[in-house]
Formats: sequence, C-alpha cells, structure tokens
Amino acid sequence: MEHRQVAAGGVDARIEALKKQYGKDLVILGHHYQSDDVIRHVDIVGDSLELARRIPDIEARNIVFCGVYFMAESAGLLARPGQKVFLPDHGADCAMARMARAEDVQNVLEKLAAAGRKIVPLAYVNSSLAVKAVVGRFGGAVCTSSNARPMLEWAMKQGDAVLFLPDRNLGRNTARALGIPAEKQVIIGADGKGLDSEDVRGADLLLWPGCCPVHDSLMKPDMVDAFHAHFPGCRVIVHPECTPEVVQRCDGAGSTAYLIKEAERAAAEGKEKALCIGTEFHLVHRLMEKLADRINIIPLAHASCPDMEKVTAENLLATLEGLEQGRGAVDVEESLKAPARDSLVRMLENC
Ligand code: 13P
Ligand code: SF4
Repeated sequence: MEHRQVAAGGVDARIEALKKQYGKDLVILGHHYQSDDVIRHVDIVGDSLELARRIPDIEARNIVFCGVYFMAESAGLLARPGQKVFLPDHGADCAMARMARAEDVQNVLEKLAAAGRKIVPLAYVNSSLAVKAVVGRFGGAVCTSSNARPMLEWAMKQGDAVLFLPDRNLGRNTARALGIPAEKQVIIGADGKGLDSEDVRGADLLLWPGCCPVHDSLMKPDMVDAFHAHFPGCRVIVHPECTPEVVQRCDGAGSTAYLIKEAERAAAEGKEKALCIGTEFHLVHRLMEKLADRINIIPLAHASCPDMEKVTAENLLATLEGLEQGRGAVDVEESLKAPARDSLVRMLENC
C-alpha cells in the first residue's frame, strides 16, 4: 500500500513538472466523471456542454482531454488551426456512442426520407463524429442533457417528425417533459427494418434503441423506492439517461450541471438532511466529500463508467511525455468536419 502511494506520488509530481514546463502551451480538460487521481491535475472541469463551450476560447497549442472519445472528437472539431487535442486512452469510447454506427444511422435516415416524410435527426452529443456528420447532412442538430428539451422543441418545428439518437431514455424523458404522448413515440431497430410500419409512419418521435449501461441497467426503480422508504421526505435526483421508470419515481432529473447545482443549493440552504443522486459514482463521491459537513449525499447506486475509468494518472503522464511526438492525438477526418460542425453549430445557435 505504502509502495503504491509512493509510486502514485511520483506520477503526480512528473505530471505537475510537465504542466509547469509547458505553461501556457498546455491546458488539461476533464469531465466530472473522471477519478480524483486525474481531476487533481485538470485545469478546467465541466460537463460535456461546458467543456465544448470552453474550447473556442482556449489559446494553448496542446489540449489534453480527460474524458471519452466523442468528447475529445468534439473538442478537435472546435479547436483552432494549429491546436492539437489529445486523449490519454483512445479505448475510452462511450458505450452508448458505440450503439449508433454512422452507416446504420445513414441507412435509417435514407429509408425514412424515401418514405416521403421529413424526419429531422437530433443526436445526443454522446455520439461519434461520423454520426454527427450524418445528422448535419440531414439538416439535424446535436443536443446535450442540459439542452435536450429546447433542442427537441426546435427539431419538432423543422419537419414532420424527429429521430432522436442514440439514447432512447433521454429521448423518452425529454418527450414526456414536453407532453409528447407515449403513443406518438416509437423505438425503431438500428437495422432499418420495419420502418414502413404503421407505428413508425404515425409517430412524432422515433427513438434509436441505444442507452447508457451505467444509468440504464445499474439504476433501478426499486432503488428509488428503497431510498424514499429509508429517508422519508428526502429527495432523489437523477441524470435523464436513467429509464423513464426511474425518472418518474424521482423528485428531479437533469444534466450533470443540474445535479451539481441542486446538491450545492441543498447544502447551502441546509433544510434537507439527505439527498440521493443517481449518476456516475466518481461525481457523486466528490460531492459527498465536498458537502459532507452540510448534507448527507447518498449515491443511488455504485455505478462507475468503465470507459471514463480508462483515463488514469499514468496514461495522462504518458500523453504529456509524448506530446511532441503526437502520442494520443485525436485526428478528425477532414470530410466529416463541415457537416459535423453544422450539427454542433445548430445546437450552439438554438439554445
Ligand atoms: P453530461 O452531458 O451531463 O456531461 O453527461 C455526459 C455523459 O456521458 C453522461 O453519462
Ligand atoms: Fe457513455 Fe454512459 Fe459512460 Fe456517459 S456514463 S460516458 S453515457 S457509457
């Protein structure tokens, strides 16, 4: 144990020395789901929307993104010429983003277009750049969990129906908040089969069959009931990637930014003894420690994201040591840039 602590200290010191050496030429960004071992070295911590919004103002030549692949790709897209974006482990690839392959999305949209209705795609930011490019070419936009509601309203006005992807849960939770009836929503197959069915033809909202395994499978409705039974009068708030069955039992649902603000507000007001939060464990644990003297923050489940955990202090150090050789650099394919940027810009302009 002692030996491991000494080794980790060595890694930390070398990371900090390299940060000092690079000075203004280096910025490290990190998503809230990263471990404390990584977060302690991060210059800007945020959720996916906050981090994407910060990129255009960054002047550093090297941007190291501690998060998952789609986030680094978006950063690469928004970066200036001459800037390089690095991801310490290219295997850190969001499981939900992997559930929507660009060729399948393209196939589905082509089939729907051939059937004569104008279907507007709306892609959750948790999708590959190739998917965002397809969405951009079909006149659609990107959204995050912070702005899914206004973006779905926007998309509904652009055509006859919306294809929301890849997260069926965020799609259904947002649709419910907007009052879109359940019978006007349909989950389609990623293989493009059955798109000529009456259900699909009559739907206002088509949902891709993807989800986040961390929020979908690890957080269950009976966990919410158990918390309410143990802590009467205390609230449960969750990320909207949880199933509608979980969200409907909760006292609030919203983005990472909402969950943090809500916990900090409850701690400042001092009226609630306990608050249960259903999202990725590293973030909940950090809030537990930070607010421990004012409120008891309880995780709904010990649900950590295996992809986010692939970034470690060790591979962050290896990335920093290899910056000049381009180790860990994220390359954005040239042909995808314009259409993917269109879909991101439609989001930034409409919310
Ligand atoms: P945010 O958009 O809230 O940062 O969430 C990203 C994510 O991966 C949630 O699982
Ligand atoms: Fe993807 Fe889920 Fe991990 Fe978020 S928590 S990065 S949606 S797998």
